[in-house]
Amino acid sequence: MTASSRILHPGLRQKIMSADAAAALISDGDNVGMSGFTGAGYPKAVPAALARHIERANQGGNTFRIGVWTGASTAPELDGALAQVGGIEMRLPYQSDPTCRTRINAGQMDYIDIHLSHVAQFVWFGFLGKLNVAVVEVAGVLEDGRLIPSSSVGNNKTWLDQADKVILEVNSWQPAALEGMHDVYYGTQRPPLRKPIPMVAPGDRIGEPYLHVDPAKVVAVVETQAPDRNTAFTPPDEASNRIAEHILDFLAHEVKQGRLPVELLPLQSGVGNIANAVLSGLNQGPFENLTGYTEVLQDGMLEMLKSGKMTMASATALSLSGEGMKEFLGNLDFYRQRIVLRPQEISNHPEIIRRLGIISMNGMIEADIYGNVNSTHIMGTRIMNGIGGSGDFARNAYLSMFMTPSTAKGGAISCIVPMASHVDHTEHDVQILVTEQGLADLRGLAPRQRARRVIERCAHPDFRPALLDYVERAEAEGRAGRAGLHTPHLLEEALSWHTRFERTGSMRA
Ligand code: COA
Repeated sequence: MTASSRILHPGLRQKIMSADAAAALISDGDNVGMSGFTGAGYPKAVPAALARHIERANQGGNTFRIGVWTGASTAPELDGALAQVGGIEMRLPYQSDPTCRTRINAGQMDYIDIHLSHVAQFVWFGFLGKLNVAVVEVAGVLEDGRLIPSSSVGNNKTWLDQADKVILEVNSWQPAALEGMHDVYYGTQRPPLRKPIPMVAPGDRIGEPYLHVDPAKVVAVVETQAPDRNTAFTPPDEASNRIAEHILDFLAHEVKQGRLPVELLPLQSGVGNIANAVLSGLNQGPFENLTGYTEVLQDGMLEMLKSGKMTMASATALSLSGEGMKEFLGNLDFYRQRIVLRPQEISNHPEIIRRLGIISMNGMIEADIYGNVNSTHIMGTRIMNGIGGSGDFARNAYLSMFMTPSTAKGGAISCIVPMASHVDHTEHDVQILVTEQGLADLRGLAPRQRARRVIERCAHPDFRPALLDYVERAEAEGRAGRAGLHTPHLLEEALSWHTRFERTGSMRA
């Protein structure tokens, strides 16, 4: 099927043009809302054409730069291409692109790291300024102008609604059979008119399968036939498998204690190796009839749906490996019954996360002994990716877990430290920490109890004595009346673990 056979609206067919012609409709200084979430459903042609356009403009001595707003991370064809030519003034709300990361950390590009559930309402409220252009990939356009979303929904509803001008990319690589898989909820209102969101189970459909756009705002339609970025699936390493074992044992214990039903509660899983190991452990484990209420559906969850361990999964994006995509495309009718793709303001909505009682599992960079978690900054100052949806889930989940190997950089760095060098999730939002060493359940523990539990269960044995020594000396300061004993710290020393690494290449004393 060619792309134009997917553009059934006569008026929009008239607006078909090249990516270069469409990119020329974006002006210097515009804020551009692009589709895309974790390498799925991002525009494939216009950003690259815009990057070429910017490069030409800037060679002539101009500084053509735009604001780039998305659902979450995209791909080299979008973030990479635009960052490479210095075309991004401000990026939000999440990125994971190496060129963006380098430019942000070099102070050449601004970045606002935002809870993913907040973005849509921030735009409606006008907190982020005017959205000038939307560039949104879709799988097709119906005769009446409604849009079939592609492999992610993200913030597309908001971009289409709020932008002055809309550029559509109609990608015929996206399976036509995606039609019907999405659930776009149009019921959200601004306060004080808000009503409860009527969702009580992960598979509930509360909206409609299509996105709306005012055809009069559409200034260009670009046809593409290009694949999403493949998220390579690497088999879990030993540390990830051990983390998965600890989590499975813990969940079984919670069921035994009557604190979880036998089919558990809906699972949210962050992206990456550890997350896939946990899901693969659950796939081989004793639990049946599981459900997912997550942000990104990866291979791990697809496997669980395939095996029947999981009955239903809700997400805002599909982020699959090449193999996973083959499996998905080969059995689309099966997966259409079991997957719902929603806008990220719903997939990550605090109200729903609290109501459904999500079990939330996310990666982290480091945690401190009191349970504060850093998900975003290397050594406190250099952004890695961003907070993504981890805060939406952690704050509101039934169980909030964070996971990491106990050390990084070949054992030179301890991921358990006296004081987190940057805090994304405070001790109040973190219930469980897991490393390959063990699992620390922090529920019901006061700070000093938490410190000992985290060191005993999660720290690498090479770093345990130094961490314990820190706690004991901090407590001694407190007992001597020179500091408080509620959350004992040696403030001048607290972050020296990080500065020691910066100086010597190791956190070891
Ligand atoms: N100190 C310094 N560097 C560290 C570190 C630490 N404590 N922990 C990890 N790193 C480095 C690693 O060495 C690696 O560096 P490299 O790229 O130079 O090899 C990098 O950080 C990534 O580490 P890795 O172990 O590969 O991480 P990951 O793929 O498991 O991702 C996060 C971990 C925290 C970066 C990732 O989970 C993330 O971005 N989280 C925030 C968003 C989120 O949670 N999204 C899901 C919500 S739905």
